[in-house]
Amino acid sequence: MQSLQKNTRKDFDAPCHLIEPSFYVPNLKEDVRTGLLEAPYSLQPKYFYDERGSQLFDSICNTPEYYPTRVEDELLQLYADSIIAETLPKQIIELGSGTSRKTRRLFDACESKAHCCSYAPFDVCEPMLIQTANDLHSTYSWLDVSPLLGDYHAGLANLPLEYNRNLFVFLGSTIGNFEPEEAKSFILDLRNKMIDGDFFLIGADRVKNINVLNAAYNDSRGLTAEFNLNVLRVLNRELGSNFDLNKFQHQAHYNIEKGRIEMHLLSLEAQKIDIDSLKASFNLQQGEKILTELSHKYEFDEIESLLTNSGFELVKHYQPDNQYFSLLLARAV
Ligand code: SAH
Ligand code: AVI
Repeated sequence: MQSLQKNTRKDFDAPCHLIEPSFYVPNLKEDVRTGLLEAPYSLQPKYFYDERGSQLFDSICNTPEYYPTRVEDELLQLYADSIIAETLPKQIIELGSGTSRKTRRLFDACESKAHCCSYAPFDVCEPMLIQTANDLHSTYSWLDVSPLLGDYHAGLANLPLEYNRNLFVFLGSTIGNFEPEEAKSFILDLRNKMIDGDFFLIGADRVKNINVLNAAYNDSRGLTAEFNLNVLRVLNRELGSNFDLNKFQHQAHYNIEKGRIEMHLLSLEAQKIDIDSLKASFNLQQGEKILTELSHKYEFDEIESLLTNSGFELVKHYQPDNQYFSLLLARAV
């Protein structure tokens, strides 16, 4: 077997490359003004992911209840070789890469085939990108890692693409965090960025037994609750607000009609919250909620047509026997 060339860099020291948005994206202050100063209250899920939030998400992935990571990882372990053989990517670009823990299956497959490629993890959390790039560099010395920092939707049009034969990767069912119409426009914008013949690997969580779904977002160790509450810590730090985390409770339940987990922070008492940097306050009554995340679950047909209606052809569909999760490999045509 051929061996892969070692990257000459001793330590990973490249800074993250900032990807500018190609359309207007409100900043935290603007989002909070829109989302909290008037009911219905809501916050964008991307604000969970400061360094602590990213670590909490990674810990959620290890809980027995949160099956998506485990199931998707098992699929990748089984099929990474055939995905790499089919796609032979020059570059793997991952949207919302986090710790890239499952993507390592693809790098292992590249290694076993002596197939060299570069990797561009694209995420909104800079400390996680830097940590991950360092970790990857020490395990896969041949892998050229170029971390990209920005919003994975608004930044798509400005992604630097050096090659054809790109493999875009969007794991973890992060597609579920978009409302259905946003998901369509995201997939279409991604397709428009891609070059004919490029591949797209996407993971999507499936509709299933409601108890399994509810348990996944209410783990017994309380890590999902910590993750949910973390967004208030982010606001306190970044905007000088005075949320008291003890006055809120994590809530997550599956809405059958809408086919999605809805995650909220419930106010345990009547309270007034000041937000210094907005020079504003707002009141919450006992029982009022702030929506913090939607996590849509897909039927196979829905995720397939999302792709085929946007200029992709389905190449492979991988799923476990219990059909808990779908991993789809599609080609831009
Ligand atoms: N893909 C990983 C991580 C999923 S968690 C996995 O499957 O385990 C979602 C990731 O998307 C986090 O790392 C978060 O920082 C990132 N993220 C969330 N919203 C984002 C946005 N708008 N733009 C870029 N990254 C985002
Ligand atoms: C990243 N995202 C797809 C996860 C999900 O399942 O919606 C985030 C998460 N929220 C609570 N638990 C995990």
